[in-house]
Amino acid sequence: MKNVLVIGSTGQIGSELTRKLRREISGGQVVAGYIPGAEPKGDLLAGGPAEIADVRDAARLAAVVDQYQIDTIYNLAALLSAVAEKKPLLAWDIQMNGLLNILEVAREKKVAVFTPSSIGSFGPETPRIDTPQDTIQRPRSMYGVTKVATELLSDYYFHKYGVDTRSVRFPGLISHVTLPGGGTTDYAVEVYYAAVKGETFVCPIAPGTYMDMMYMPDALKAAVEIMEADPARLIHRNSFNIASMSFDPEMLFAKIRETIPSLQVCYEVDPVRQAIAESWPDRMDDSCARAEWDWKPSYDLDAMTTDMIAHLKERFGK
Ligand code: SER
Repeated sequence: MKNVLVIGSTGQIGSELTRKLRREISGGQVVAGYIPGAEPKGDLLAGGPAEIADVRDAARLAAVVDQYQIDTIYNLAALLSAVAEKKPLLAWDIQMNGLLNILEVAREKKVAVFTPSSIGSFGPETPRIDTPQDTIQRPRSMYGVTKVATELLSDYYFHKYGVDTRSVRFPGLISHVTLPGGGTTDYAVEVYYAAVKGETFVCPIAPGTYMDMMYMPDALKAAVEIMEADPARLIHRNSFNIASMSFDPEMLFAKIRETIPSLQVCYEVDPVRQAIAESWPDRMDDSCARAEWDWKPSYDLDAMTTDMIAHLKERFGK
């Protein structure tokens, strides 16, 4: 990786990945790709080039790739699961037509591509405990449909054209930097904010609903390491299960209360998010990622909670 384009650079993952790559890549450029209305600001804008890069505009993508001699694209443009249920056609347009545009540019210009998949690529028939790397993927949400299709199309471009596509299936991602928007796992971020601000948290997910989760530094590490992995060792490509922790709302609230005992919670279960959550794995088996590119997470629920609360207390002056 030398010259990198991050599409969706102001989003939940992109805002942190762009900064990390700029810190870590020497002798190249990291371009912050964005869409009008979601412009980079502050250090994200000052820290390097920024260009409009809408995945639905293939000509524009090709021009940015040429201008900066891009060799790697991180394609992080997506509608999350609950929003995608409200706008399924838009989700398809961004996630599938957008991906096709990126893969075509990548084929023509020999660019490596990372497009994340997700726990959302699984469905109700998938084994929920120790979900295998290769298993049944019959999701019922539009988000999940686009994620499975993303995996297949990315593998297709690798096998047919040799495009260097690689990716991981992210669990729900938790961070104190940029809020997610409209995902099923968002509750596990929002409760930390409520706890630190002293607000009652209204939980849309029912007690007893376990999902795979991950702290953002581990997710970013995975996104970088998979693209730097030795291709000769990769048996799989799109996409690898990666895991670090699994919990239900009660377990998370109990952990936060060890530091903030005053946390108040009530439940107002959202049927759309709840149905999606129940169809996702409780705990993925990530042994292939560990074997093929030495994946190893650093944060468990304890370490994440300590770090999240410390950062949010500092941010909100608590
Ligand atoms: N965090 C995503 C969502 O909840 C899943 O990948 O939609």
